[in-house]
Amino acid sequence: MPNAEITDEFEFLRSQFNNYLSKNVGFDFLNKYPEGLRQAVLYSLLAGGKRLRPVLILCAAKFNNISEENALKLAFALEALHTYSLIHDDLPAMDNDDLRRGMPTSHRKFNEATAILAGDALQAAAFQALASAGASTRAIQYFCEVVGGSGMVGGQFMDMQGMNSSSAMLLRKIHLRKTGRLLEAAISLPFIFMNKEEHQIRRARNFGLRLGVLFQMADDLLDATGNAEQLGKSPGKDLSSDKLTYIKIYGIDRTRTLCRLMSQRLVKRAKILFPNSDFFIGLPEWIITRKK
Ligand code: IPE
Ligand code: IPE
Ligand code: MG
Ligand code: MG
Ligand code: MG
Repeated sequence: MPNAEITDEFEFLRSQFNNYLSKNVGFDFLNKYPEGLRQAVLYSLLAGGKRLRPVLILCAAKFNNISEENALKLAFALEALHTYSLIHDDLPAMDNDDLRRGMPTSHRKFNEATAILAGDALQAAAFQALASAGASTRAIQYFCEVVGGSGMVGGQFMDMQGMNSSSAMLLRKIHLRKTGRLLEAAISLPFIFMNKEEHQIRRARNFGLRLGVLFQMADDLLDATGNAEQLGKSPGKDLSSDKLTYIKIYGIDRTRTLCRLMSQRLVKRAKILFPNSDFFIGLPEWIITRKK
């Protein structure tokens, strides 16, 4: 079981982020949206979720001595981007899901066009937040790389193409891109934002990317073994849709073993990158033992 330090730190940073969101629901940019679009954006953004990505950004930002205000803006940028990716992931043309974060998916609650546009607006909001934190050109270029065609969007495309495939190599490529790269950013964006030394940035990227693959392996496991009430989304979707997942290639037991092995390797990397951080050292175990 993950130790108490990670759970406490996680809770603390999650509520810091959620307070920031609820205080800023009147974000200037949102006020200029047409009312229906504003509602749809807020619906998905405030629905909750674990807030893993913003929590990681806030923790890595603390490690890099980034001001709280800028750290929260970076965290918002990534969570907005992630929320858009979920809205689009659930669309009928993609995973066709009805439940997300314990509530009807955006296209179910509103309609498909509104869901598509809410996702589009959230993507722009992410870049707006980055710019308002004063992110460098390099940081913004990096963000484009992880969220766009070479990152999350590219991974989602390969995920759709990979239906009915049983290639372990393709599976690895999909997971690296569709989930790995956003987690990579969650860890390394604060390093890049502060223009840290190249070897540190490289380590941060590597750790985050692998953490992301582990996260998606655990997500694949939860699809096969979890329940809707805890997950806040419908389990069994991957299996019934011929998605290329770890379960499809390796089965449940072997995937669990692979998760444990990968988690042990990540603990070693965490100790080098974040020495003395119980949070980052306990994180891989938290990822593989989570129930939602
Ligand atoms: C779901 O991410 C999409 C994946 C990359 C597996 P999360 O499991 O972090 O979703 P929320 O943010 O907690 O809803
Ligand atoms: C989605 O992976 C990753 C994204 C980029 C959104 P999944 O399709 O497995 O995520 P869930 O299970 O619907 O949350
Ligand atoms: Mg998907
Ligand atoms: Mg999905
Ligand atoms: Mg999934």
